[in-house]
Amino acid sequence: MRSTRSAEQAAEQHLGATMPRRWCHVRSVAAEANRIAPAFGDGELLVTAAVLHDIGYAPDLVMTEFHPLDGARFLQTQDAPARLCALVARHSCAIKEAELRGCHADVAEFPDEETPLRDALWYCDMVTGPDGQRLTVDDRLAEIRNRYGSESLVGQFLDIARPELIAAVDRTIERYTAAGIPQPKYG
Ligand SMILES: [Fe+2]
Repeated sequence: MRSTRSAEQAAEQHLGATMPRRWCHVRSVAAEANRIAPAFGDGELLVTAAVLHDIGYAPDLVMTEFHPLDGARFLQTQDAPARLCALVARHSCAIKEAELRGCHADVAEFPDEETPLRDALWYCDMVTGPDGQRLTVDDRLAEIRNRYGSESLVGQFLDIARPELIAAVDRTIERYTAAGIPQPKYG
């Protein structure tokens, strides 16, 4: 699982048929990653991580029912690079949700690289709706809250993670616009 092409094949194999809506989301996250990749050091890694970020939702890969962790552990079994596994395990502030779910130590085994590339992955996820539509981060956070409910664990997670998610999105937009890449059309 070292190339974007093999990542796409794996993601399609595990999500394409069983989770078509999730697969639409993933393809759109990857498309945005591809669009902004020239502004980041290792653009192929960004796109590969985008393609694989939600693979842990695949029914045949569920182990803990926390998809960033299940995805990262699956990638470890495929001999994916440690950096790629960690990007998936930590995507979109997953460590905060892991704290609420009681699996913080498991996710913490994967280091958060806290780089522009990591911010860019979070950005791509946070501007992409469940059907692949492009949303502002505010609309995306509202959409997630509506889908899960504000009293749910995910709703609590959003309250905690919101500032970090928005900061990563803002930093990413600043970086790619400075590199001459325009913002997408939202909505
Ligand atoms: Fe996602």
